[in-house]
This record gives sequence, structure tokens and C-alpha cells, in this order.
Amino acid sequence: MRAFVARRLPGGAVDRLRAEHDVEVWEGSLPPGKEELAARAPELDGLLTLLTDPVDSDVIAAAPSLRAISNYAVGVDNVDLAAATERGIPVGNTPGVLTESTADLALALMLGIGRRIVEGDSYVRRGEWRTWEPGLLLGRDLHGATVGVVGFGRIGRAVARRCEGFGCKVLYTSRRGGVELGELLERSDFVTIHAPLTPETRGLIDAAALRRMKPTAYLVNTARGPLVDTDALTAALHGREIAGAALDVTDPEPLPGDHPLLDAPGLLVVPHIASATHATRERMADMAVENLLAGLAGERMPNCANPEVYEG
Ligand code: DGY
Repeated sequence: MRAFVARRLPGGAVDRLRAEHDVEVWEGSLPPGKEELAARAPELDGLLTLLTDPVDSDVIAAAPSLRAISNYAVGVDNVDLAAATERGIPVGNTPGVLTESTADLALALMLGIGRRIVEGDSYVRRGEWRTWEPGLLLGRDLHGATVGVVGFGRIGRAVARRCEGFGCKVLYTSRRGGVELGELLERSDFVTIHAPLTPETRGLIDAAALRRMKPTAYLVNTARGPLVDTDALTAALHGREIAGAALDVTDPEPLPGDHPLLDAPGLLVVPHIASATHATRERMADMAVENLLAGLAGERMPNCANPEVYEG
């Protein structure tokens, strides 16, 4: 069968796919884009995509033989799940394998913004370090802080476990318990987002939500950029409504180098690297290829974001 893999993946997983199928791997360093996907779609049986690839209803409609989509991510907000489900096409994802790496980065961001690590590094490199000073680069402690975890799935719980190790008090929101979002925002010293991007969570942290946070609190986002209203965050940072924000994900993404958010004080941004360790990215590739192989063989995918396609 014919499969398209939308980027080179780490490790040897794609070789296992090649051993069984006719595979084209997109060699570009930037995503193929919707036009390239749509151009290949009429011939494709299988598609392995990244979170940067829009697998919308047009792409799916252009692929009459498509029998499996495998996304190299736990999030599937780049795929039109309803359109795939309607056609009975399973959509694979990679839950679990990136939980701990993502939780590690959330903690790194909390420490990075709270303890001003990047500012400190720049200060030294600028040659400004002349003496030890009692008031130099004062930040805020993570130990003993109240951490509000928005979304208490696998990653949220892994972050909570780490925070408990730091002696933090953990609050969380979840569909099955925890506290109301408003209360979490008002009480937390660090608010860390771990919810999926859905129509309901888009813009969850808007101007009103930011106003409810303490002026000494930090916002951390390792989930998806559009969960936070970027203009509202930019204004809140300029207005010192919150102490800072540390972002692994942004809206837009990638964030252009001249974006107004980058002029805001108290901001730390990294380029969507929460799962970026050698081991995790290879495990994600293994899982994505296993999903695609199963889907092409007409078998149940080990990890499927729309399992209802197997019902009935
Ligand atoms: C995901 O998998 O959804 C992450 O954002 C990237 O690893």
C-alpha cells in the first residue's frame, strides 16, 4: 500500500513501514503544507502526519482509498476527527510515551520563569556580572508554592506528582473533580495548563481569567497555544497583571521573531519542545508507525483517538 510520512522521524521506525509498504517520506525541513498533502491524497492508503500538518476535511475527501491516519503526537487537533470518523478512518496518536518528558519540561519552565534562569544567563553573557548582590535577579520559589494544574489527565497528574516532591500544594481542575477554574486561578502561584485543545477549551485563559490570577503568579503552557488568548496575555504582562508566563506552545505557532508578545516583560518562550528528548521522540515514532501498520492491515490501532470507528 502507499503511505506518506510527512517528515523524517528519529530512529528506525520508518524502515519497518518501508519493509511492508510503498513509503514516501517528505524530506523538507518545513511541513509539506496542505497543498502537497492534497496533491498526494488521491493515491494514498496511509498517512503519517505531525501536529503541524492540517489533515482537514478537504484532505480527507481528496483521499478516497485512505484507510489509516497516524498522528505523531498525543494531540490530534490538527486532524478533522469528525471527517475521519465519518469515513470510518482510524486516527492514531501517541499517548503515554511523552507524559514524563512533557511534565519535566513544565517543571523546567516553572523553575525557569520563577528563578529567572534565562535572564541570569543573558546577564552573565552581557558581561554585567560584577559582584554578588543581595537584590540581584530575585524571583519566586517553586517549593512551598501553590500550583494550579488545569486539566488532570496523564500529563497533569505527572506534573502534580513532581510538584508534590517540591513540597507544593497542588490544586487541579478536571471533569471528574478538583476545584473550579476561577478558584484555581485566584489561589495559585503557578498555573500550568495540561488540557487538550477542543472548541470548549480554545481561549480558556482569556483576559478575564488572567485578571483572576495573582499579580505575583506565573502562567505556564505546555499544552496547545490557542488555549491562551495571546493578545490578552500580552496585555496582562505589559500591565503587570501577572508576574510572568513561560510558554512551550504559542498562538500563532511558530511565533514570528517580531511578534508583539516577545516585547512583553516576564516572558520565557521555547519552541514546542516538551517531548523533545531522543528517547521520547523515538518512542513516539515507534508508536506512530505501529498505529499506521495496524491501520493499513485493517487491524485495530494500538492507540486510536476515534475508537468509535471500531464499533459496530
Ligand atoms: C503532542 O504530542 O501533542 C505534543 O504537543 C508534541 O509532542
